[in-house]
Amino acid sequence: MIRQEEFARRRTRLMEEAGAQTMVLLAAAPQALRNGDAHYPYRQDSDFLYLTGFEEPEAVLVMLPGREQGEQLLFCRERNPERERWDGARLGLEGARETLGMDDAFPIEDMDEILPGLMEGCGRIYMMVGKDPALDQRVIGWRNRLRAEQKGQKGPGELVSLEHLLHEQRLFKSRDEIRCMQKAAKISAAAMTRAMRSCKPGMNEAEITAELLHEYQRHGCPPAYLPIVAGGDNALVLHYIDNNQPLPDNGLLLIDAGCEYQGYAADISRTFPVSGRFTPAQRELYELVLAAQEAAIDQVRPGRPFEAFHDAAVRTLTEGLKDLGLLSGDVDQLIEDESYRRFYMHKTGHWLGLDVHDVGDYRIDKQSRVLEKNMVVTVEPGLYMGHEDDIPEHWRGLGIRIEDDIRVTADNPENLTAAVPRKPDDIEAVMAG
Ligand code: GLY
Ligand code: MN
Ligand code: MN
Repeated sequence: MIRQEEFARRRTRLMEEAGAQTMVLLAAAPQALRNGDAHYPYRQDSDFLYLTGFEEPEAVLVMLPGREQGEQLLFCRERNPERERWDGARLGLEGARETLGMDDAFPIEDMDEILPGLMEGCGRIYMMVGKDPALDQRVIGWRNRLRAEQKGQKGPGELVSLEHLLHEQRLFKSRDEIRCMQKAAKISAAAMTRAMRSCKPGMNEAEITAELLHEYQRHGCPPAYLPIVAGGDNALVLHYIDNNQPLPDNGLLLIDAGCEYQGYAADISRTFPVSGRFTPAQRELYELVLAAQEAAIDQVRPGRPFEAFHDAAVRTLTEGLKDLGLLSGDVDQLIEDESYRRFYMHKTGHWLGLDVHDVGDYRIDKQSRVLEKNMVVTVEPGLYMGHEDDIPEHWRGLGIRIEDDIRVTADNPENLTAAVPRKPDDIEAVMAG
């Protein structure tokens, strides 16, 4: 659980960084219609959630560092018993003050009237410029009104992107955020293990998908992204999400799936034989991906560049591909030429947090940024073998990825998703049991 004090701390910190005579403005995510009168499940905007913990749509957070009559304001929906009978409870203005700790709250309908006045004396507005062009236009309109109605008031001269200030803060996870991520990891790991246990020849990808979703939902957690449940050749399509084909009796199943807990995501991939037993050829390639993952995880330490774990995976994979006869030549040269990309065409990981591909710069001044304590990354090497004639037949059509969520600690890397078996013998034992 993220407590109200923590949300307040985040807002205070952001205001300190924005400085006096500024306005910080951030909107809740809009509701999206799926078709007809049916909605997509509502998911709050991650930045808005990070600063408020407020899960309702139709809200705007406005912060005015140093404003004497109140620095933290929320525009949101008012209580409305008639609407609440249809759509569920609303926090309302009083709730925004009391539960969310806002200094003041106003009806969202009154924004046009109130906003221009709040801009008085502000030199700059921090907001997600370009994210919602209609909101950008409204902000410019409010500024112009302030100028027109109050002679001598220039209004804010700059619209500045809020992204950098806020996303740098989100990159470092607090103790309670780590707890949420551990919880998301635990439920996602249980679901992945359940999928492994339930997998039998003759099943369809859809049935395995249902096992994952059942496990998430019974903990009240939505999936963090559309799961990938890819039998056989489907694993070669990196973003496969159809999840509706029969599983190949003697093939592999690649699953990439995770849920979110209080907004925080887990992101796990495992690859295992549908039959419960790896063939020698499957095992050979699998062991290579596993070795690459272990070499990579060992680089997730404070002081190491972000890129180091990708480089470690690439080196292990390239050496292994050479040993297997799939690449030939000098290893350094093969890496330099990116010859491995034919079999390994994605990066080895990304930041993880409220977004699956979480926010935060990967490079600073054109240099790979250095890992620091309480950053969380995924480590997810893979190998993908097509059906070309020059690939020995027993490896053709194999797609393998192993992905875990790793926290940078002062000491050894912490694998949040270690509960799901990774070693071939352990996978076979779970599937047999
Ligand atoms: N599941 C998305 C990813 O692994 O990056
Ligand atoms: Mn993934
Ligand atoms: Mn990932």
